[in-house]
Amino acid sequence: MTDHRSPDARFRTSQLEENEGPAINPTDNRTMGEIIAARFSRRGFLKGSLAVSAIAATVSPLAMIAADDARAAEGSAFQFDELQAGIDDKHHVAPGYDADVLLRWGDPLFADSPDFDPTKQSAEAQARQFGYNNDYVGYIAIDGSAEHGLLVVNHEYTNPHLMFPGIVSIVEKDGKKKAEVAPLSKEQVDVEMAAHGGTIVEIRKDGGKWQVVRDGKLNRRITSSTEMMLSGPVAGHDRVKTKADPSGTKVFGTFNNCAGGVTPWGTYVMAEENIHGYFSGELPEGHEEAANYKRLGIPEGAYEWGAHYDRFNLAKEPNEPNRFGWIVEVDVNDPTSTPRKRTAMGRFKHEGAESIVAKDGRVVFYLGDDERFDYVYKFVTKGSFNASDRAANKDLLDEGTLHVAKFAEDGTVEWLPIVFGQGPLTAGNGFAGQADVLIETRRAADLLGATKMDRPEDIQPNAVNGKVYVMLTNNSKRKADQVDAANPRAENAFGHIIEITEADGDFTAAKGKWEVLLKCGDPSVADVGATFSTATTANGWFGMPDNCAVDSAGRLWVATDGQGPKATGRTDGLWAVDTEGAARATSKLFFRVPIGAEMCGPLFAPDDQTAFVAVQHPGDGGEDWDGFGRPSYYEDPSTRWPDFKPDMPVRPSVVAITRQGGGKIAV
Ligand code: FEO
Ligand code: CA
Ligand code: CA
Repeated sequence: MTDHRSPDARFRTSQLEENEGPAINPTDNRTMGEIIAARFSRRGFLKGSLAVSAIAATVSPLAMIAADDARAAEGSAFQFDELQAGIDDKHHVAPGYDADVLLRWGDPLFADSPDFDPTKQSAEAQARQFGYNNDYVGYIAIDGSAEHGLLVVNHEYTNPHLMFPGIVSIVEKDGKKKAEVAPLSKEQVDVEMAAHGGTIVEIRKDGGKWQVVRDGKLNRRITSSTEMMLSGPVAGHDRVKTKADPSGTKVFGTFNNCAGGVTPWGTYVMAEENIHGYFSGELPEGHEEAANYKRLGIPEGAYEWGAHYDRFNLAKEPNEPNRFGWIVEVDVNDPTSTPRKRTAMGRFKHEGAESIVAKDGRVVFYLGDDERFDYVYKFVTKGSFNASDRAANKDLLDEGTLHVAKFAEDGTVEWLPIVFGQGPLTAGNGFAGQADVLIETRRAADLLGATKMDRPEDIQPNAVNGKVYVMLTNNSKRKADQVDAANPRAENAFGHIIEITEADGDFTAAKGKWEVLLKCGDPSVADVGATFSTATTANGWFGMPDNCAVDSAGRLWVATDGQGPKATGRTDGLWAVDTEGAARATSKLFFRVPIGAEMCGPLFAPDDQTAFVAVQHPGDGGEDWDGFGRPSYYEDPSTRWPDFKPDMPVRPSVVAITRQGGGKIAV
């Protein structure tokens, strides 16, 4: 097999999603330097400048805004004893809690599943076992129970250097030891394809501890080979037809399913995020999809699937990438159901799809496009949620209006409808209909003048306080002259969180207000400009917010991705963040992951007595996990979490956190 990539590229880490290449949003939407001045006056810069005059000579104007924003100290409203931040090879939870591993990569899910043997892994075995790199975690109650339900889990991507024995060799280059990864065999690619997708598995709490029901009749694996249907406005369009599927409706598989959601009618939605890495080869000369693919970074070629399957090779199936980048809906009540790619919800690097029923019964989904300088979206269904007839909601996601957010410096946000024929979305700009608009959602949003954000990740509506929380994980490529009110820091290494309040408390509203809840990073370093409350301890601050959850009391919990020895000197983890009253912007560390991992999930059981968290890519740090150039790979990982057995590799796993003696996680 021809291997077109450098050996380094095969250390396929979450760096893929950080997209180290050049920024690929070509527009100049909303990068106006003068907005900074407007922001200064709105925030009472003069008053703030007196308070921080002692440091004014050494810090940037933006750091001074941060100081002005810092909130009065008041202790966290969360009553648990805070965990100490740090880095080691284990997971840790706050005192008084148990954090039990529930599902590991390779765990059997069916009565006939083979036991996990990492030295003899096959695609057939993997398709009957829990997949790799668990990300989104959702819970769908069985008979309304908080102690018996279906856990739905996305398996975002694979790390071959940690999965397969014998593929990494250590070589000496320029006096430094380096790791090289051999090309994967077809059998290994097949294992990867079976390790992607999702898991639906019955779980039950017995004697206070969660158990997997191995022969649950609804247990199912979704993989990169599962047959799916395209539905909605793009189904059957010429641009999604391929040699293998002249109907333009039948797609095999889903991949890079990052965050997701559970709908009010109890289906599981999976967001297809970094789809660019799975495609390789070159489009035929002058092909009409060239600009469309460039806007998404396709092909990136980090995966070797195109060497074995024509559909991932642009030269052979040039339309295949248009069949990915969607939201996939799975009816978990029927393990033989065909998942639907709901094209009305747009095509981009979908991070999540958390939803809420609006006052009038329509359902609103908040959607992030995780790329530097890309956008925040929301989808409003045309029809209304029917709480008394589950089947009536079956195709609710096929009709509705997708909107993109424009954040103004006066603290308002406008939701711009992405509808063919409206504004610039016309034939004059190359759109023949709504299908074209949806296939090229990013370009449509560019033309509408959406606000270029610092990598929108999870977005969570909060039914208790009516707010919406937007995680913006980081954007080190934002330059000083690209700063705007909603993305207020240049070289934003640590990210921030925006809080939206929709007009009239109506989630379908075309307008709302917004403010920055939190600028992240170490608040003891003035130049960072973090705005945690002064009651936040040295353990309580974090960087790179990614996933989040609200518990049933409406309190915000934030999971991070990208900390570590170099970035923040602490691992990723789960932090409880106050949003109300004088404690607002106080943060407290609850759980932390082993070295190399990112914190995914999180999810609270309906009774708030369990927090499910997903430990993704433990032991992964590319070539440089410890800051001293020591690689971490199958034979010599930085951790063998969670089994700590010499013959077991490190395994991404879902962890169930409960309070010792029972009760709600946080009071
Ligand atoms: Fe897969 Fe945007 O995190
Ligand atoms: Ca994520
Ligand atoms: Ca992430």
